[in-house]
Amino acid sequence: MLQRTPFYGPYKALGHYPDYWYWVLRGRPERSPHLLKQKVVREYGARFALRTLVETGTYYGEMVAAMKRRFDRIYSIEFVPELAERAQRKFANESHIKIFCGDSQVVVPEVLALLGGPALFWLDAGYYGWVGKQGDQQRLSAELEMILSHPFPHIILLDDARGLTGRSGIPSVSDVKDYVESSFPQRAVNVEYDIMRITLRSS
Ligand SMILES: C[S@@+](CC[C@H](N)C(=O)[O-])C[C@H]1O[C@@H](n2cnc3c(N)ncnc32)[C@H](O)[C@@H]1O
Repeated sequence: MLQRTPFYGPYKALGHYPDYWYWVLRGRPERSPHLLKQKVVREYGARFALRTLVETGTYYGEMVAAMKRRFDRIYSIEFVPELAERAQRKFANESHIKIFCGDSQVVVPEVLALLGGPALFWLDAGYYGWVGKQGDQQRLSAELEMILSHPFPHIILLDDARGLTGRSGIPSVSDVKDYVESSFPQRAVNVEYDIMRITLRSS
């Protein structure tokens, strides 16, 4: 019920602090809290001087809300129409934020066409299945290929790297690392706190 109200965003955001401290108390297990994800997105934006954020998987717009003052432009893509419409209403007064409704694999090329320089990509769109649905195994590699082949040196953060299990048709972390580093030799891939980071080799 609360989920349907505009109070759900602020309510969830309040929960990020106890969630973070509970994670620290448990010895920082693999699954990282949202506050840490926000910190990583902020850090990579600053480190690579990126002013545009592209997110796949808007959900309740928590990352968009946390980053709305940190980036000059934010594009976020959500597959579920109710969630996309909710986020479009939530950010209707923020002219630098655009929420797209659709499958990330279809919308990422549209967003790439809008970019005039490098951007930070936060890939977080349920790549290994979402709410009981089997994920499209090709979607992640298709999006990585599109982003990395684009003329600008985009930086990519992929959430939930623990989902790269190497089982049931899903690639493993080393499959993705080998593919990226061999196809795009100027790229380096590493994983920390459940977030895969695809950066530039010289960095
Ligand atoms: C983990 S949540 C995203 C959380 C959000 N990025 C954040 O940090 O606050 C995953 C979201 O991806 C969406 N999603 C799943 N498949 C998708 C697809 N093919 N294209 C776009 N969004 C998708 C789900 O509906 C869900 O809202």
